[in-house]
Amino acid sequence: MNVLFLAPNYPVEMQDFTRGLAEVGARVYGIGDGPVRSLVPKVHRSLAAYRQAQLFDRDATLAAARSFGARFDRVECLWEPFVELAADLREQLGVPGMSLDTARGFRDKELMKERVEAAGLRVPHHARASSAAEVRAAAAVVGFPLIIKPIAGAGSADTFRCDDAAELEAALAKTQHVKELSVEEFVDGDEFTFDTICINGKPAYWNVAWYRPRPLISRTNEWISPQVVVLRHPEQAELRGGVQLGHGVLAALNMGSGYTHMEWYKKQDGEVVFGEIGARPGGARLVDQMNYSIDGDLFREWARAVCWGSFEARVERKYNVAIIFKRAHGEGRITKIDGLDTFMQKYGRHVAVEELLRPGTRRRDWKQTLVSDGYMILRHPDLAATLEMADEFGERVQLYAE
Ligand SMILES: Nc1ncnc2c1ncn2[C@@H]1O[C@H](COP(=O)(O)OP(=O)(O)OP(=O)(O)O)[C@@H](O)[C@H]1O
Ligand SMILES: [Mg+2]
Repeated sequence: MNVLFLAPNYPVEMQDFTRGLAEVGARVYGIGDGPVRSLVPKVHRSLAAYRQAQLFDRDATLAAARSFGARFDRVECLWEPFVELAADLREQLGVPGMSLDTARGFRDKELMKERVEAAGLRVPHHARASSAAEVRAAAAVVGFPLIIKPIAGAGSADTFRCDDAAELEAALAKTQHVKELSVEEFVDGDEFTFDTICINGKPAYWNVAWYRPRPLISRTNEWISPQVVVLRHPEQAELRGGVQLGHGVLAALNMGSGYTHMEWYKKQDGEVVFGEIGARPGGARLVDQMNYSIDGDLFREWARAVCWGSFEARVERKYNVAIIFKRAHGEGRITKIDGLDTFMQKYGRHVAVEELLRPGTRRRDWKQTLVSDGYMILRHPDLAATLEMADEFGERVQLYAE
């Protein structure tokens, strides 16, 4: 089993997927942007060979792939910007797996909605626009409030809610550099994920997580400590509509084998609406959270699913798992952390991971990375207890910078 794996070392989550591939018996060939010496030991020992190439340079990456002189059984990439590149390489190298056309359906937010809608599933009213005039015309059809966002965006970048024409003009001024935009009906409600590891389009594992608050709000208000809560009971009646929608979306987009990460909305009246989906796992430690919820290794199980079409972890959902991201007060370097000792004394036995930046470290850009100035992962069998701890962490533990 020869696997070409793009971006095996960065982003940091990829390191465990690389390890997982090696652990299920694949010979792993890596191509990434960094030099060989930048590979962490775990990646280094999991790779049979490595080439450095700029992944945004498609021809250079293809040449690097050919230079291994190996016949690949799989070409994989779990980093969003290069999921299409992996599909392109598959076609060039005659390797089975997701086609370029299918990969586009997981990346182009308009094509995605067209396909999901064609399957009779509920998507926000939407239109594609590539000029200010087209955005205004789309707004006239979609109506206010609306959202404008890049066709192939990530991290809520360049995403704006507009409640009237004046706000739309302000958003247009801020998105002049974006080539193509999606204009969407604003869907009010709660926001959830539907995550899977699929084998031939069927979820061998699935998960629902709850965003507190909605990502667009977390991503535009620095004072908030955003939470993502992996739910122990994703089969509950309140979530059924979203899970059914998720299964429909996988079929509509012709999912094969691998990870998916979907976002969906639940309105106050109970209606569920599709948000977006990627053919890769969610970022910002979501795979770790899922692992903590079942005491499993979903890095390795993904590898088993794509290499051998099997899934061996026992999915016994034991915990709700909350991650809480912190943003420090002030700019510059972290100077102190308040409230952590008290919190640990009270709840330490429920803490799975504590990764707050320590005094002396420079603050991260919270707009660029959801991980911000660090995070804590907590788990508890009871949801109310999980949320109480998560809220207390958000309120009582504070980082300061100068
Ligand atoms: N039609 C909509 N109605 C309401 N809110 C929306 C809508 N579209 C986007 N949003 C808000 O903006 C956020 C970002 O949008 P979306 O998920 O489409 O883009 P993204 O930048 O790819 O996201 P991610 O942060 O997951 O990478 C959503 O999580 C949601 O909170
Ligand atoms: Mg999103």
